Amino acid sequence: MSSKTARGQAEEDWLLPVDPSLYRRTCARFTTGITVVTVLDQNGHPHGMTVNSFSSVSLEPPLVLVSIDLRNAIMGHFISSSWFAINILAEHQECLSRTFSSPSENRFVGVDWYPGPSGTPLLEGVLAHLECSVVQKFEAGDHTVLIGEVRRAGFREGKPLVYFNSSYRSLAE
Ligand SMILES: Cc1cc2nc3c(=O)[nH]c(=O)nc-3n(C[C@H](O)[C@H](O)[C@H](O)COP(=O)(O)O)c2cc1C
Repeated sequence: MSSKTARGQAEEDWLLPVDPSLYRRTCARFTTGITVVTVLDQNGHPHGMTVNSFSSVSLEPPLVLVSIDLRNAIMGHFISSSWFAINILAEHQECLSRTFSSPSENRFVGVDWYPGPSGTPLLEGVLAHLECSVVQKFEAGDHTVLIGEVRRAGFREGKPLVYFNSSYRSLAE
């Protein structure tokens, strides 16, 4: 005799075999902040891209990860550089998220930034910075997972830019 409840049966019917569209739409139900991950190339030019796959991984040592699509042009710079920075965007910085996720020869035109102690570009006015040294990179499917050890960090009070269901949001309170 089955012990399945009516609710369990309903949820099973609701859980469908995954395909790319269902996978994307389901993951979009996970609310994230938005970061711009930055790196310097070998000629000292700044590069950056919008990333919401940022996650903290370990406290001791302090490790973080970002997952970068292998097709992204910026990928080569992450491979050649031993430093990167994570800039956590504030509520009013939706335009920076759009700039750093749109095709452009130089996304830093008109963007205020300064080099951190390692030279990595730090964006002005963000909620937080994490300056990281690359400790590990590995391919996972069509992405490269970049693990960084956080060497310097800083934050200010304020509200974050929020991303949910493929839309920018802000915290209500
Ligand atoms: C809200 C948001 C979050 C994103 N998060 C990621 C991410 O975590 N990893 C990734 O590879 N691309 C992510 N992207 C897409 C990249 O920003 C975009 O493909 C990239 O800027 C292209 O850069 P390229 O010029 O290096 O090819 C995200 C885009 C948006 C709008």
